[in-house]
Amino acid sequence: MTYILGIESSCDETAAAVVLNGTTIASNVVASQIDLHAQYGGVFPEAASRAHVEAIGFVVDNAMRDAGIDFSRLDAIAVTRGPGLVGSLLVGANYAKGLAVATGKPLLGINHLEGHVYSLWLTQPYREVKFPVVILIVSGGHTELLLMTGHGEYQRLGGTLDDAAGEAFDKVGRLLGLPFPGGPNIERAAINGNPQAFDFPRARLEDEYDFSFSGVKTAVMREATVATDGRRNREEHKGVQLRADVSINDIAASFQRAVVQTLVDKTVKAAKAHDATEIFISGGVSANTALRNAMRQQSELPVRYPPLNLCTDNAAMIAAAGYYRFESGLRDGLEMDVRPMWPLNNETYAR
Ligand code: KG4
Ligand code: ZN
Repeated sequence: MTYILGIESSCDETAAAVVLNGTTIASNVVASQIDLHAQYGGVFPEAASRAHVEAIGFVVDNAMRDAGIDFSRLDAIAVTRGPGLVGSLLVGANYAKGLAVATGKPLLGINHLEGHVYSLWLTQPYREVKFPVVILIVSGGHTELLLMTGHGEYQRLGGTLDDAAGEAFDKVGRLLGLPFPGGPNIERAAINGNPQAFDFPRARLEDEYDFSFSGVKTAVMREATVATDGRRNREEHKGVQLRADVSINDIAASFQRAVVQTLVDKTVKAAKAHDATEIFISGGVSANTALRNAMRQQSELPVRYPPLNLCTDNAAMIAAAGYYRFESGLRDGLEMDVRPMWPLNNETYAR
């Protein structure tokens, strides 16, 4: 049995987990900062770093205690190296380095997006995956369409040119006066809304696998808000006033339909074009039931997504990705730097 401790602190969750052989979760601890950031209506980077510093010690200790092992039993320590907020990444990376020195265990720097990929391997019983698979990663910070041809082998097919899908949910949620994060709250509002009430635009892009969500966000703003001083299209404009005669539920449902349709169309098309055996979706937005259902309905291939608690940021996925790097003999040194911008593609781990 290979025991990997995973540590994640790239955004607004401080997390640690112990995973066996990249598939079996022995412990999974997540300290969420949602309440902290809700008061700002979004993630406030400096507050995030400070909260990570406060939480990381007990989060790691709890993960070890829940797993019922001590540090000497670990085979390696995997930590998110990027992409993410620099101050937040540093907290996890420095803590992991400290542990690596203190315990003599190898250090593995993991790409956070690869973590979202490996959240799909955290299933029981373990299922063999036949490559290639097409993977859609949709989160608050990322919208990436990938072709995975083997463990650690990624071809980037496309991604967002502006807002990430989750970011669009969060911005529209804020506009509609829903609590942060917008995604789950829009999903809830959409249940009672008419998805056909508005026909929001889909971006037409040069590259068939790229995405753009700023247009639909602007269209929502136009439909839902009163133009008080001609500045309603400016996102930073604080004084937006919702029109009394539009239903928030209808807007939420129509917005969700537009975003889901774009994500599904491109993913299904990519899977066909590349003879994929399965479609994987992961990241916070993959918790969305409308997205899951639409993907299943429109794809002839099996569609897989992680259980809800592994869709959003967690450290089990980092430990799972770490296992495959550990098995292929890769190690990182103590001089490892964090990488706030670090795409996942065929050069991610090229040295
Ligand atoms: O993966 P994640 O925890 O963090 C990043 O790596 O960014 O994703 C968080 C994002 C937020 O934008 C949140 O609004 C969105 O995932 N999200 C959802 C749902 N649950 C979370 N979006 C749509 N529907 C949901 N049910
Ligand atoms: Zn994430």
